[in-house]
Amino acid sequence: MRAVQVVSFDGPAAVVVREVAAAEPGPGEVVVEVRAAGVAYPDLLHTRGLYQERFEPPFTLGGECAGIVASAPDRSRFAPGDRVVAMVRHGAFAGCVAVPEFLVQPLPDEVSFVQGACLPVNYLTAHHALCGRGALAAGETVLVHGAAGGIGTATVQLARALGARVVAVTSSEEKAALARRVGAHDVVGAASFREDVRALTGGEGVDVVVDPVGGDRFTDSLRCLRSPGGRVLVVGFVGGSIPTVKVNRLLLTNTDVRGVGWGGPAFGVPGFVTGQWDALLPHLRAGALDPPVAEVLPVDRVADALAALDDRRALGKLVLHF
Ligand SMILES: NC(=O)c1ccc[n+]([C@@H]2O[C@H](COP(=O)([O-])OP(=O)(O)OC[C@H]3O[C@@H](n4cnc5c(N)ncnc54)[C@H](OP(=O)(O)O)[C@@H]3O)[C@@H](O)[C@H]2O)c1
Repeated sequence: MRAVQVVSFDGPAAVVVREVAAAEPGPGEVVVEVRAAGVAYPDLLHTRGLYQERFEPPFTLGGECAGIVASAPDRSRFAPGDRVVAMVRHGAFAGCVAVPEFLVQPLPDEVSFVQGACLPVNYLTAHHALCGRGALAAGETVLVHGAAGGIGTATVQLARALGARVVAVTSSEEKAALARRVGAHDVVGAASFREDVRALTGGEGVDVVVDPVGGDRFTDSLRCLRSPGGRVLVVGFVGGSIPTVKVNRLLLTNTDVRGVGWGGPAFGVPGFVTGQWDALLPHLRAGALDPPVAEVLPVDRVADALAALDDRRALGKLVLHF
């Protein structure tokens, strides 16, 4: 089968598309024939060996896909021919992938393979952030950094579906338009978000900040929180640096900084992802979770997709088709 492989940690341009042996299922694993695979920021980090979990080259890239069950273990929830999504630590950018059954979820007929491929990493991370770690309540206000990116668009849509008011932070007019299209009530600029949030909330601040960017925005995110009770959710560090917190601010304002690590429970706790997926399905079927697809590319153009994330050009989600 064809697969996208990292053969050295030299970045997106160094990945190769080549023939490898077909995926062999281990005990309890489902084999999924991949139709579409989502490209996410962690894939980019993997090409440089910079992700927190590092695999030694050569390895097949890709953390999420949508496709058709080719084979399933005895007494499985799935049967050959079922439409599914699947998530893996790596290996989804391939003709087929073997996945533990608890990481495979049913894809409703009304959701295309391309849309399905956009869902696992971003929407399940958004769910873990907002519902698991953030304890978001309907009527609260959420500020979303990187709101035109993969995690950002998913978070905007899910927060709105859960009844929150959503304020998006973006760095360009094009990205602002996308954030509005996916459901943000208000959009503010990355350079002025602190003042803009103050104006939009009558000085009250927001209940929740979802931050996949980090870097020098972090302190201003803390200053945007409602006191008492506001919380910043730490999701990622695309901005480059890992921020530090002067904890006296948390004491003085009765606010929280909470880490959001989806991979740990998703891959380590059987049943965790199924519970999340079941919670998302009604919103998916209602059309509230409709991932914006930036581009669908043939697998041979994987380096272009990774470069778009690297250069901060992506408007929504990039998808590879097989
Ligand atoms: N915690 C978890 O469990 C978990 C799970 C999945 C992913 N993540 C992390 O979440 C982060 C976001 O992933 P993603 O797939 O949403 O990425 P993405 O699609 O590339 O979006 C990131 C957004 O961040 C903004 N940004 C600000 N500074 C940037 C910079 N220097 N370079 C690139 N983008 C910058 C951009 O928006 P503007 O240009 O509008 O600012 C961009 O749209 C990554 O760090 C990823 O590893 C965490």
